[in-house]
This record gives sequence, structure tokens and C-alpha cells, in this order.
Amino acid sequence: MDELNVMQGLEEEDRKSQDLHCKWVCTANHGFAPYAQEELRRMFGSLKSTMLIPGEVFVTTLGRSEEEAKGLIMSKPPIFLRHLFPVHLEITAETVDEALHAVEAYILKREEISGSRVSIQIRKTENSLWTENPAALRDELQHRLTPLQLEYTVQAPEWIISLFAADGLWYVGVSRPEENLSDWNGGAVRFQREEGQISRAKFKLLEAEKQFGIPFDSFRKALDIGAAPGGWTSFLLERGLQVTAVDPAKMHPSLHGHKNLRVIHKNAADVSFKEHEFDLLVCDMSWSPKQTAKMVTGLLYSLQAGGTAVITVKLLTKKPMALVKEIMAVFEEARMQVQGAKQLFHNRDEITLYMIKY
Ligand SMILES: C[S@@+](CC[C@H](N)C(=O)[O-])C[C@H]1O[C@@H](n2cnc3c(N)ncnc32)[C@H](O)[C@@H]1O
Repeated sequence: MDELNVMQGLEEEDRKSQDLHCKWVCTANHGFAPYAQEELRRMFGSLKSTMLIPGEVFVTTLGRSEEEAKGLIMSKPPIFLRHLFPVHLEITAETVDEALHAVEAYILKREEISGSRVSIQIRKTENSLWTENPAALRDELQHRLTPLQLEYTVQAPEWIISLFAADGLWYVGVSRPEENLSDWNGGAVRFQREEGQISRAKFKLLEAEKQFGIPFDSFRKALDIGAAPGGWTSFLLERGLQVTAVDPAKMHPSLHGHKNLRVIHKNAADVSFKEHEFDLLVCDMSWSPKQTAKMVTGLLYSLQAGGTAVITVKLLTKKPMALVKEIMAVFEEARMQVQGAKQLFHNRDEITLYMIKY
């Protein structure tokens, strides 16, 4: 091969390898970014990534085309990677105006989103060029994108415009909500706190319902293990279920005397029920994961075949991936099929498992 052909060959290779790369801004719960990186590494092999917010947000390059990467991630939903968006434009600018101009010019070219329902999701680092809050940046962008006649919405958008304004670089992407794993900005699902709400734990069940599509309204009799003070119990009662709540601790006074509630003030190791008495079992004990799994599997005789279980698993270890695998294996052994496993936004140092008994 002469020199010119070698050069052309290299350019060709270069083009091909660019096709086989895509960049994403990825988010996990605080402190869990290394595990989200590990999940991607297991899926894609080696990984190049840079932290944008320590322990939480990173930008990574995957050695596949964007389409392939999307397909892989969506087919095997990760546990710790809460949210991601594809990077279509990277901007290094000296001034905010230059950066904004670049974002505007790029998005105005994405004519396929014209006239559709769009959510603009902005996040930034503390030392970003943009010094005001993210909402002000969103308003500024909305104003600049007027020619596209977009309908702005927070819920159920057709497209999401994502902008992460980091210290030196701004990352921009336009994607469908399902490709981002969540249609909330950074996967941070917000629920309105209600008057008289018993505990924030209720948000975990609300988020699990949304994340996994659990049809809580369709169940009749639930067993709630580690129920006090009663956030989950109140949620299930509101959905019209009959609830048996087990906890040595006190339930919230607002639940006293509820006609659909039976409270058993005992340790869950000391209770027994009829076979197949329940069609839903929930457990949020914030306790040793192995002990929790042992206790729950010991009570599974009371769950009907086809019944559902929602369980939080505390990650009291430096090796959460191995622990999750071990706990899932314990449940699978006990005829529970894992339908979903996810560290929800409202989970702290834990994950939520959604399982069905077969
Ligand atoms: C995080 S709180 C549960 C919050 C509850 N899901 C809510 O929505 O309000 C954990 C509860 O598990 C209970 N618990 C811990 N070990 C238990 C056991 N062995 N048997 C029954 N309850 C237990 C504790 O008493 C505590 O009330």
C-alpha cells in the first residue's frame, strides 16, 4: 500500500471508530456513581469516564453506536444507573452568550422536534459559566427556541432537551424519555408532600409504582412487614387494600381503628399466617439484608402464587453489586421471579426489589 492509501485507510478507520462511539451524561444516587460505572463496564467492556459531580454525575464514552448502546441499556435496565442522556453537542465557550448561542443554533437544526411536547432539563455544577439557577437558564432557552413552536411540559414529554452546564464544558442532547431511563430531570422523581403524610417512606412505594408499573389497585390483601410508622400501610389503605401490618413499634395515631387495617405488634420472626392469605407482601425493614431475605422467605407461604412482593434491600456493604446478586439468588431459590431491581431516587443506601411468586 502506498503512503496515500495508508492515510486514506487511517481516515476511514477513524470515521468508523467515531461511528462506534457515543457519549452520555450519567447519574446515580449520591455516592453510587462508581457502581453505575461498573454496570456500564460490565455491559460495554472498558469505559472512559470523567466525574462532573463527585459520586453522582459522570460523562462517559461507550464503544458502540448510540443506537446500539441505547438498545443494550434499555434491554437490561441497570440498578444503580438512574438516568442518562446522550451527548450530541459539547460546548467550550468563553462567555455565557457564546455557549447559549451554540445551544440555540444546534437545537434549531433538530427540526424533528418542531411543534412537539418537550421538556427542557437543565442541570449545572457550582462553578459553571451559568451563575444563576437552572430554571433561569431553562427560561432563557425556551425564549431562544421560539421558532420551533414547542409545547413545554414536565410530564409525559415526547422529547427531552438535556443540558448539563459543567465547569468547563456544556453537554447537550435531544432524546426520547425512555432512552433516558426516566423522564425526570436527572431521574430525580419529585412527589408533592401531602398534609398529614406519615413518613417520607411513602415516596419509595409511589416511585416503585411508577418505575416498575406495579398495579397496586389490583391487589386485595397485603402484608406489610416492618410497617411502622405506617407510610407504606397508609398508601396501601388509600389504594383500597386490606392491610396486615407487622411491627413491634407504634403505628401513627392517624391509622388507629382503620377498618381495613390489622396491626400485629410483634417481631416478624414470631408471626404466622394462613397459607396463601395475601396477594401482596411488602417489606421495608432497614435491616441486615440477609436477615431480611431470610425473614421474608420464611413468610412466603402466606403469599399466593402469582402474588407480588416489594422489598427494600439495605446496602450495608462496600460491595453492593455482589450483595444484590446474592439476595436476588436467595429470593429466586424461594420461587420469586425478580421483575425489577433498582436504586430509586427515594432509596438512600438501599435498592428496591419487585418480584412475583411463581
Ligand atoms: C424504615 S422503618 C419502616 C417505614 C415504613 N415502611 C413506613 O412507610 O413508614 C423500619 C421498621 O422496621 C421495623 N422492624 C425492624 N426489624 C423488624 C422485625 N424483625 N420485625 C418487625 N418489624 C421490624 C422497625 O421497628 C421499623 O419500624
